[in-house]
Amino acid sequence: MKMAIVGAGVVGLATGAGFADLGHSVHCVDIDTGKIALLSRGSIPYHEPGLEALVLRNTSAGRLTFGHNPSKLLNDVELLFITVGTPSGDTGEMSLAALWSVIDQIEAWPDTDIRRMIAIKSTVPVGTAERVELRLRSRLPDNCLVDVVSIPEFMREGSAVRDFFEPSRIVIGTASVDAEERLTQLHQRLPGPILATDRRSAELAKLAANACLAVKISFANEIAALAEQTGADYPSVAHSLGLDPRIGPHFLAAGLGFGGSCLPKDTRALVRMADEAGAPQTLVEAAVRANAMLPLRMVRKLEAALSDPGRRRVALLGLAFKPGTDDMREAPSLRLIAELSRRHPGITLTAYDPEANHAARKLLPSSVKICDSAEEALKGADAAILVTEWREFRQIKADDFKIWMNRPIIMDGRNALDAAALNAQGVVCIGVGRLPVV
Ligand code: UGA
Repeated sequence: MKMAIVGAGVVGLATGAGFADLGHSVHCVDIDTGKIALLSRGSIPYHEPGLEALVLRNTSAGRLTFGHNPSKLLNDVELLFITVGTPSGDTGEMSLAALWSVIDQIEAWPDTDIRRMIAIKSTVPVGTAERVELRLRSRLPDNCLVDVVSIPEFMREGSAVRDFFEPSRIVIGTASVDAEERLTQLHQRLPGPILATDRRSAELAKLAANACLAVKISFANEIAALAEQTGADYPSVAHSLGLDPRIGPHFLAAGLGFGGSCLPKDTRALVRMADEAGAPQTLVEAAVRANAMLPLRMVRKLEAALSDPGRRRVALLGLAFKPGTDDMREAPSLRLIAELSRRHPGITLTAYDPEANHAARKLLPSSVKICDSAEEALKGADAAILVTEWREFRQIKADDFKIWMNRPIIMDGRNALDAAALNAQGVVCIGVGRLPVV
């Protein structure tokens, strides 16, 4: 099939390169001319495992091409995926500006024998596919037939390529049997179960999935706080919870909470949309509030472990919102740094992330010293906070912490380290939902 993708973010690129790898011809478009120039030279603007090889393999085979003009896209293709960003601000209002801009640039196509399909992959409020179709119909001549469908994307940053080839499910929301059949056929070679449904259910299925994950994480963090107050060990509690097949073991890790470009904005958007629809989502709203409290909670724990933090040097291990990515969008590290600096203006902060240093430099106050290694960040520190659970932090030995740091106090914000082993070797390691060893 000949297809196009508008929006060369991680989702768009992984989807485009993935379909190209399955033998389709894919033209990938983005308004960011710099990004398209990079991609055309074979360079990938993100840290995303496996993506570079996938893109290169398909560009050199001629199946994947890049450009920056969406206007005549439907002249040549049968299917257009839209994967542009839909940011939501503090009020939760999702901005569909990028989506409408693409839709409004689409021009009538001359060959009207083939019915075109526009598949919205971007996360959008319920009812968006219908609004897009109405807007296109009001503008295009009657003989330009188009189905607007919703195919939400469930891929995760850091495993986008794997998630493309091994999806947990493929949700196809359509309003026509013809579109449903063609899209089912297109996805047949992927192993996940295909769920054919209507467009509104597909749109809500995506928002509900991210909200459910967020609620699970906030639940984990609240039980972890209760464990701390009552002398229980949260990881043991989580282990037990996870063995119940009705609960499952995933997304029960307590720590500094959820960040990234999706869970925070999609939960805010769901809450707002639900209020407007008259079906308030009190649980999701509480999950968002609980998540926002976590950086402050960590600062308070640091204050309990380290006297006078305003006169100390504190190292942050990890800055990205999760390991496996260089993405700093709504990363918990940002709120943590803001809280540390607000409560302790004299504090000296050093930080190191294996992949996100570059992105962080543009976002962090210049007072935070961004270092080239964990060793450099930890040298002379009075305490460290493990913010992102990169594997290399697990490999730091107790002796290294003791030699490099002024005082070996580690606040393990992701329960990533072997606290018992470190404590036994003279490093104070304080996890989340666990009692500190004394
Ligand atoms: C999330 C969803 O997992 C994807 O299914 C979805 O497609 C994507 O959003 C999207 O809407 O595009 P992603 O943002 O890549 O994917 O990140 P996750 O792996 O879901 O992690 C989100 C945050 O939750 C991270 O900050 C992570 O550290 C945190 N987290 C995760 C926890 O605090 N505890 C856990 O147990 C799991």
